[in-house]
Amino acid sequence: MPGNSFGNIFKITTWGESHGKALGVVIDGCPAGLKISEKDIQLELDRRMPGQSKYTTQRKETDKVEILSGLFNGVTTGTPISMLIPNVDAISKSYENFKDIYRPGHADLSYDEKYGIRDYRGGGRSSNRETVGRVAAGAIAKKLLKAMKIKTFGFVQQIGNIKCEKININYIEKNSLRIADKGKFDEMANLIDSVRKSGDSIGGVIEVRSTGMPAGLGSPVFEKLDARLSSAIMGIGGVRGFEIGLGFQVASMKGSEVNDIMVGKSKGKVKFRTNNAGGILGGISNGNDLILRFALKPSSSISQKQDSIDNKGKQKKLQVKGRHDPCLCPRAVPIAEAMVNLVLLDCILENNLSTVKKIT
Ligand SMILES: Cc1cc2nc3c(=O)[nH]c(=O)nc-3n(C[C@H](O)[C@H](O)[C@H](O)COP(=O)(O)O)c2cc1C
Repeated sequence: MPGNSFGNIFKITTWGESHGKALGVVIDGCPAGLKISEKDIQLELDRRMPGQSKYTTQRKETDKVEILSGLFNGVTTGTPISMLIPNVDAISKSYENFKDIYRPGHADLSYDEKYGIRDYRGGGRSSNRETVGRVAAGAIAKKLLKAMKIKTFGFVQQIGNIKCEKININYIEKNSLRIADKGKFDEMANLIDSVRKSGDSIGGVIEVRSTGMPAGLGSPVFEKLDARLSSAIMGIGGVRGFEIGLGFQVASMKGSEVNDIMVGKSKGKVKFRTNNAGGILGGISNGNDLILRFALKPSSSISQKQDSIDNKGKQKKLQVKGRHDPCLCPRAVPIAEAMVNLVLLDCILENNLSTVKKIT
């Protein structure tokens, strides 16, 4: 089963299943000399952890990370870094009913079609629990990027049809929905509450921005920065749409409205009047902030009765009981930030090999 590794130089491989003994990640290609502690990693894992509020799953995973290798006296040695996160709150018997029945919207059917065998407990490898490894690796990338003054943050931009109209960065981590507009909290929280009470779920949109971006990240043509970011984000379970800058809005606009006009240079960086391109031109960063958005579907696990079929094709009724996220958005923010940080760091490490000047 290939497809579990991500990145070219800072290469991560995640492993583990939702209800297995543990999950984790191996990072190959982390530069030596970085001071890292389990506390640095834990900070990010805690932001992703289940059970943070009534708007997320009530599963009580502690997600405590253990670093097994790659450090000496708290400093990276350039050897593979291995991190382990045990599973402590898996209730596998809730999934017994679905071992032969395909839950609508889940990967059950396609995994069975491809492999002929699947770990039905909690979705196995298709579960969002797999992303603990990505978030753990992303925490290391974040620390390296911080030293280069690159900062990535995400927020929930939309839940259902309700959109944030203001962006207050300081408010994001102070509210359980991770929205950026305080004025929309009650409306959005009530919407999630009402869908949860009716045994349903709701979708939304997340925006991610990176500031302090250098120009020159990303490569022509198949390794464009936007292509790599979309692969990173679309690889998160439940993502259904991705856009950079103005994204789908450009379809109804004129060139004169969309073009970002360059107005001068300051501290070696080109200044633009606008940032409609989201910081990328020709697949390469232009020094402007990176701006991307993605749409998340409503969780497929809903407690309403649904029709489905079993693995013999026989019609069945099913009801997915258990502890699920009524809206995926709040917990997806740190996962998306981690994926963006992994891409940016990988591009920076590649740039160090891009010209003779940099290696002589
Ligand atoms: C943070 C996060 C939490 C998730 N929690 C749930 C959940 O509780 N229930 C569920 O049905 N899907 C959940 N998902 C979505 C599934 O992981 C995803 O739908 C599944 O892997 C199938 O992949 P696909 O939707 O991309 O086809 C979650 C996704 C994310 C990013």
